[in-house]
Amino acid sequence: MSSITVLGCMWGDEGKAKIVDFIGAQADVVARFQGGANAGHTIVLAGKKYVFHTVPSGILYPETKCVIGAGTVIDPFGLRDEMQSLMAQGIDFTDRLYIDERAGLVLTLHKQLDQKSEESLGLEKIGTTGKGIGPAYSDQAARCALRIGDLLYPEWLEQRLDNFYKYHQLTLSAAERNEEIKALQEAGNFFAPYIVQTDRMLRDWYSEGKNILFEGAQGTLLDLIYGTYPYVTSSHTVSGGVCVGTGFPPRWLDNFLGVFKAYTTRVGAGPFPTEIEGPLADQIRKAGNEFGSTTGRPRRIGWFDAVAAKYSASINGIDSLAITLLDVLTGIPKLNICTNYLIYNQKLPGFVSHPMELEKVQPNYITLPGWETDISNVQSWEDLPKEAKQYLEAIQDLLKLPVKLVSVGQERHQTIVVKGKV
Ligand code: GDP
Ligand code: IMO
Ligand code: MG
Repeated sequence: MSSITVLGCMWGDEGKAKIVDFIGAQADVVARFQGGANAGHTIVLAGKKYVFHTVPSGILYPETKCVIGAGTVIDPFGLRDEMQSLMAQGIDFTDRLYIDERAGLVLTLHKQLDQKSEESLGLEKIGTTGKGIGPAYSDQAARCALRIGDLLYPEWLEQRLDNFYKYHQLTLSAAERNEEIKALQEAGNFFAPYIVQTDRMLRDWYSEGKNILFEGAQGTLLDLIYGTYPYVTSSHTVSGGVCVGTGFPPRWLDNFLGVFKAYTTRVGAGPFPTEIEGPLADQIRKAGNEFGSTTGRPRRIGWFDAVAAKYSASINGIDSLAITLLDVLTGIPKLNICTNYLIYNQKLPGFVSHPMELEKVQPNYITLPGWETDISNVQSWEDLPKEAKQYLEAIQDLLKLPVKLVSVGQERHQTIVVKGKV
C-alpha cells in the first residue's frame, strides 16, 4: 500500500506522462486530480504516439484502474471523443475508468468566454489553451456550474442549465435550449457507467493495499495561487491539490516525485527569467519537438532555473526528482543553470512570484560543459558521459534532492533508474 504523486514542477509539459507511464507498471490506480483538457500528456510506446487530455496516462496498462477526480473539469464532448478514439484503438474502459460525479463540466459557453476574454485582453492576454478552463472553474466558485453527475438527472440538469444561463444573463431560444439539453443528455448516457463517487473508492483501495499514483497536470508555476499569477491556469497544481481534488487524506500521501525538464519551457504569456531566444532556442525547440501537445504552439525555451525549481520542490514537498529530455541538450557545448536571481545587483533570497518582480530579475548562471555523444540509448547512470553526470549532479546539489529517474528519449525504455547515490 502506497501512494505516489507525480507533479510537473515548472510551467507544464515537463514529461509527466512519460514518467507516469514508466512507473505506472507498479501502480494499481492512476488518478487525475485537477485540470482538464488544457493538459496534453504524451506517451510514445513502440513508436505509437498517444496524447491524453483528460484520460489518465495509466490507461495503457490494461489492468490499471483510472480515476478522473472531483477536482477536474470535463468537457463532456471532448472527453467522449477522446475515449471513443482510444476505444477504436482497442483500449477498454469497462470497470477501469471512474469519473467522480462532482467533476465540473466545461460547457460550450466556457470555451467561448475563454476565447473572448483572450481577444479582449489583446497584448495582455494570458495565452490560454482556449479550452474553457478559467470560466469553468470560475463558475464552480460562483456556484452556477454544472457537474458531470448532473447529467444523470434530467429535470435537475434542465434546472441547472437554466440557472447557469440566468447567471450569465443570457437567454437561449427554445431550439438552442433543447439542442443543448439533448446533447448533454446523450453525453450523460455515454458517461453513466463511469460516473461514481471516487473518493471512497480511492480510500478503500489504499486501505486494501493497492498502489495509487496521482498524476498532476500543468505545473507548479501555473498554480492558481502559487504560480506566476495572473499567467497561470485556474486549478491547484501543487501537491495540496491532490487531497482537495480526490478526497484522499493528506496523511496518506506517501511520496512526491517532481518532474523537471533538463531545461525549461513555457507556453503562453508571462515572465520567464531564464528564457533564451535565437538559434540556440530554435535548436532546442527542434530537438525536443517543443510544440504544445494541446494547441501546437511553439514552446518558449530557457535554461534550467534552479531558483524556480527549488521553490517548486519546497512548496510541493518533493522527495526525489525525475529529469526529462536530457538527450535534447546533447551537442550544446556550454550549458547554463540559473543558481540565483539578482535585482539591481542584489541577490534575492529565492523565487519571486509577482510578475512585476519576476520580469525584472537577472538570472545568475553557472556554466557547465556539454557532451557530444548520443545518450538516447544509455541505460545506466554509469554509462552517461561525465559531463551529463556533472550536469545532473549540479541540479541535485542545488535542489538538495536526489535524481531518481533520468529520461533520455520518448519511449518507456529510454529511462535510467538511478540507484544509490548519484
Ligand atoms: P506532459 O504534459 O508533462 O506530460 O508533457 P508533454 O507530453 O506535453 O510534453 C513532453 C514531450 O516530451 C512529449 O512529446 C514527450 O513524448 C517528450 N519526452 C518526454 N521525455 C522525453 C525525453 O526524455 N526525451 C525526449 N526527446 N522527449 C521526451
Ligand atoms: P500539461 O498538463 C503547458 C498554460 C497555457 C496558459 C496558462 C493558462 O500538458 O503540462 P488555461 O488554458 O489552463 O487557462 O491556460 O496555462 N497551460 C499549459 N502549459 N502545459 C499544460 O498542461 C498547460 N495547461 C495550461 O499555455 O499559459
Ligand atoms: Mg503537456
